[in-house]
Amino acid sequence: MLSSLLIAIAAFATIVVGSSLDHAWSPPYYPSPLGGRVKSDDKWKESYERARDFVAQLTLLEKVNLTSGIGTEQGRCVGQTGEIPRFNMSGICFQDGPLGVRATDFVTGFPAGITAGSTFNKDLMYKRGAGIGQEFRGKGADVILGPATGPMGTKALGGRIWEAFGSDPYLQGVAGSLTVEGMQDHGVMANAKHFIANEQEHFRRVSEYRKYNFTDLESEISSNVDDRAMHEIYAWPFAEMIHSGVGSIMCSYNKINNSLGCQNSYLLNKIAKDELGFDGFVVSDWYGQKSGVAAVLAGLDVGMPGDDEGVPGFLGANLTTMVMNGTVPEWRLNDMAVRTMAAYYYVGLDKTREKIGGPNFYSWSLNTTDAVYHADPESSPYEVVNEHVDVQTDFSQEIAYKTAVEALVLLKNNNKTLPLNSKSQKIKKLSILGKAAAAAPVGPNCPSTQGCSDGVLAVGWGSGSIEFPFLSIPADEISRRARENHVSVDWNFGTTVSDQFDKTATTSDVNIVFALSDSGEGFQAVEDNLGDRNNASLWHNGDAIIKRAAEKNSNNIVVVTSVGPVNLERWIDHPNITAVLFTTPGGQYTGQAISDVIFGGYNPSGRLPFTIAKKDDDYVPIVKDVPEDGHPQDNFDEGIYIDYRLFDHLNKTPRYEFGYGLSYSNWEFSNIEVSPASDDLSQSLPAPPSLAQPYSIDSNLPEPSECVFPKDFHRVNDLYEYPWVKDQSKLTANGSYPYPEGYSTVQHDTSLPAGGGPGGNPALYKNVYKVKADLTNQGPYKGAYVGQLYLGFPQSDKYPSPPKQLRGFEKVELTPNETTCLEFDLRWKDLAIWDVYSQSWTIQSGCYKVYVGSSSRNLELVSQINI
Ligand code: NOJ
Repeated sequence: MLSSLLIAIAAFATIVVGSSLDHAWSPPYYPSPLGGRVKSDDKWKESYERARDFVAQLTLLEKVNLTSGIGTEQGRCVGQTGEIPRFNMSGICFQDGPLGVRATDFVTGFPAGITAGSTFNKDLMYKRGAGIGQEFRGKGADVILGPATGPMGTKALGGRIWEAFGSDPYLQGVAGSLTVEGMQDHGVMANAKHFIANEQEHFRRVSEYRKYNFTDLESEISSNVDDRAMHEIYAWPFAEMIHSGVGSIMCSYNKINNSLGCQNSYLLNKIAKDELGFDGFVVSDWYGQKSGVAAVLAGLDVGMPGDDEGVPGFLGANLTTMVMNGTVPEWRLNDMAVRTMAAYYYVGLDKTREKIGGPNFYSWSLNTTDAVYHADPESSPYEVVNEHVDVQTDFSQEIAYKTAVEALVLLKNNNKTLPLNSKSQKIKKLSILGKAAAAAPVGPNCPSTQGCSDGVLAVGWGSGSIEFPFLSIPADEISRRARENHVSVDWNFGTTVSDQFDKTATTSDVNIVFALSDSGEGFQAVEDNLGDRNNASLWHNGDAIIKRAAEKNSNNIVVVTSVGPVNLERWIDHPNITAVLFTTPGGQYTGQAISDVIFGGYNPSGRLPFTIAKKDDDYVPIVKDVPEDGHPQDNFDEGIYIDYRLFDHLNKTPRYEFGYGLSYSNWEFSNIEVSPASDDLSQSLPAPPSLAQPYSIDSNLPEPSECVFPKDFHRVNDLYEYPWVKDQSKLTANGSYPYPEGYSTVQHDTSLPAGGGPGGNPALYKNVYKVKADLTNQGPYKGAYVGQLYLGFPQSDKYPSPPKQLRGFEKVELTPNETTCLEFDLRWKDLAIWDVYSQSWTIQSGCYKVYVGSSSRNLELVSQINI
C-alpha cells in the first residue's frame, strides 16, 4: 500500500512539477473500486440491491455475456452484449449517437451538441436530451452513445468538436448533465464520451491512420495532460454528468499520459470510479480495448463491439479464461456485471424493454428484410429487421427547430441590415450565393455517415451523424419568404467566380452569401481532411466568393456554417459585408432557422461557444507528424488556459470572443448583488462521507468442462463472440501473470478527500453564493438574451488562474422595456481550484471578481467576493 502511494506521488511529481509534459506517464491505481459504495441517492441504492440480487443468480458464462460485445454487425445495433436466455434477457443495445438515432429512418435529425451549446439555453439543453431520449426509446435502443463532452474543444480544428458543447468545461458540464437528465428521464441510458482528452482525430487509432499512409505509426497518440488541467478542464463535465446519474461512460481511443484510455487504471479506477464516485459502467470505444486482463483490472467493464477489428476480441471467451484461471479475481467480473445491471435498473431499462420490446431498427441497411447477422450475410438467415417505426413527435420537431434557431449567432449587423424588411429597405431583388445555401445533389444524406459536403451543412460526418428524414434548405426557405413579398430571387451556387456569378451578385439589392467548413470522425476523409480540419479556412472557395460579392454589391449578408471556429479575416471588415450570421450544424431545420433570423421571425440570441481568432496560429494546433519512434505525443502545454482563457491571459485580441453574439434589440445590465448562500464557507472540503462496506456475491466458479462450447453447438458464424472456450487447458493457471506495478485486490476503506459521492465530495455541489443582476430589453424587438457570469480567481504564484472563467449563464426572453432579475447560484466547486499538492479542491483566500454581462470580453457589471 505504502509503496503504491509513493509511486503515485512520484508519478504525480513527474507530471506536475516537471517543466514539461515530455515524459508524462500515468501512475497505476488498483484495485478497481467496487460499485455502490459511495453516498448516493435511494435510486442508486435500490438499483444496486436489485443488480446484486440479479447477478447472484447468474453463472460465470452469463456474466461474461452481459459484459462482452457479440461482435461487429452481429446484431441490429452498433453494439450489443450477449443474451441471457435463462432470464429472457436479450443483449443490451448500444446505438449512436449524440444528436439522434443513427443509421435508421423516421427519426429527428436534431442539431449537433455544439449548436445546443450555442443556445446557452438550459431548458432547451434538457429538452433536446429528452427528445433524443424519447426517440431512442421508441426505436428500442437501450444505450445512447452520447452526449460527447470530450473533445473539450481545446483544438479549434479537432474533427469532432461539433459533437460536444463548446470550448469551456462549465458550459460542457451544464449542457452535458442536462442532456443526460433529459435522456435518462425517458427510460434509456446516456453514455458520457469520450473519457478523456480525445481532442483530435489524427492518430486516435493506429489502423485508421496507417490507412492514410502514416505507415510509421506504431501507437495511438498520447494526450499528455497535467493534473490541474485534468481536473479543472477535462474531467469537469464528466464529474457533472456523474453527479446527474449518467449510467455509462465510454473510454477513449487515445492514450492519456502514455497509457491507453481503456486500460488506464489512474483514470478509470482512480478518477472516474474512486474520486468521482462513478457507479455505472465503463464501456470501451469501438475497438478501443487493446488488452484483456490489463483493461479489466484497470476498470473497463464492458468491451465493444466484441471482436477486435475482425479477429476475436479481448473479452467473451477470453474473459471466461482470465477469471477461470484466476488471473482476474471473480469479484471483478461480478463488479462489471453488477455495475452494468445497476445502471440498467437506475435508468429504468427493465420497464422500457417490457413496453417496447427489443430494437425495431437495423443499423446496417434500411431494407425491411435483411441478414440477421450482417457480419456474414451468406451464412445468415434473413428476417424482417426494420420495422420502420416512426418515432418523430411534435415535441421533437419543436425542440429541434428551437435549438437550431436559438443557436444562430449574429456577428455583425451594420446599419441594422438585419432583419431584412423588403418594404422599409426597398428590396426588390435578392440573390442567394454559394453552394452552402443549396440542396446537395445526392440528397440530405451523403452516403456513408454524411461523408461528403456538397450543399448545406447540417451535421458533420462520422458516428455522430444521422440520416435526415428531410432537410430544410436555406435557399428554398429564403426564396419562399422573399416571394411572400413579391421580391425577385436569383441564385448562383457555383464554387467559382464567373460572368454569370458577377451578374447575379451585381443586379440584386442584397446578396445572401453562404459558406461552410466541415469536419468529422477520423475513419473517413472528406476533401482531404482526415477527420480534423486542415485549416480554419472556408471550404469550396468560400472566401473568394464572399469577396467577389462584396466587390460587386454594397449590401451583402454572409451566412457561415461551420463545425468550429473559422478564419473570417479576408473579408469581415469589408464595408460591403453588412451583416454576418454564424451557425454551427443545425440539424434538419437548418434552412428554416437561418431564414427566420434573416427575416426577423426570430431575434438572434445564440452565443459563440468558442473563440474566433484573427490568426490561425492562435489556435492550439493538431499534431500531424509521426515521430521517428512511431509514438506520437501531444503535450497539452496550454494546461488550464484553453480558448478564451488563453486569449485573455496573453492579452491577445480575438476577432470574436467566446460568449459573443448580437441581438436586434438593445440590452442593459444593472444592479449586481452578491450575497452568501451558506453560513459556513470552509476553504477546504469536509471529510468525504464514509464508504459502504464492500459487497460480496456468493458464487462458485463452474467446472472447466462447463466453459467449453457445448457438443454439437451451432455457431452462427465464425466471428460471433461466445463466452465458451474451445480449449479447456487454458482455463487452468499456467505460470504467473505479470501484474502491473501497484496492483492490489484490497478495496480501499475510505474515499479520496475529493470523493465520496456521485461527481465527487458532496460538499462540492453546495450553493455558497447567490449573484443577482437586472437585465432590461431596451427594444425595439422582443427577444432572448444571455446573462453570463465569469469569476476572476485570486492570483498567486503557486496557483495562477485565467483572468476569467465562466461560472454561470441564464437566458431569458423579454418584451421591449421589460426588466427581469437574473439569479446565478455559485456552488462551492465553482470557486475552487484543484490543489495538486493536497490532491483535493480548495478555495483560495483573496478577492474573487464577479463579472456579469454579455460575453467573455464585454462584462458590464462587476462585484467581488472577499475570502
Ligand atoms: C467510434 C466513435 O469514436 C464513438 O463515438 C462511437 O460511439 C462508436 N464508434 C460506435 O459507433
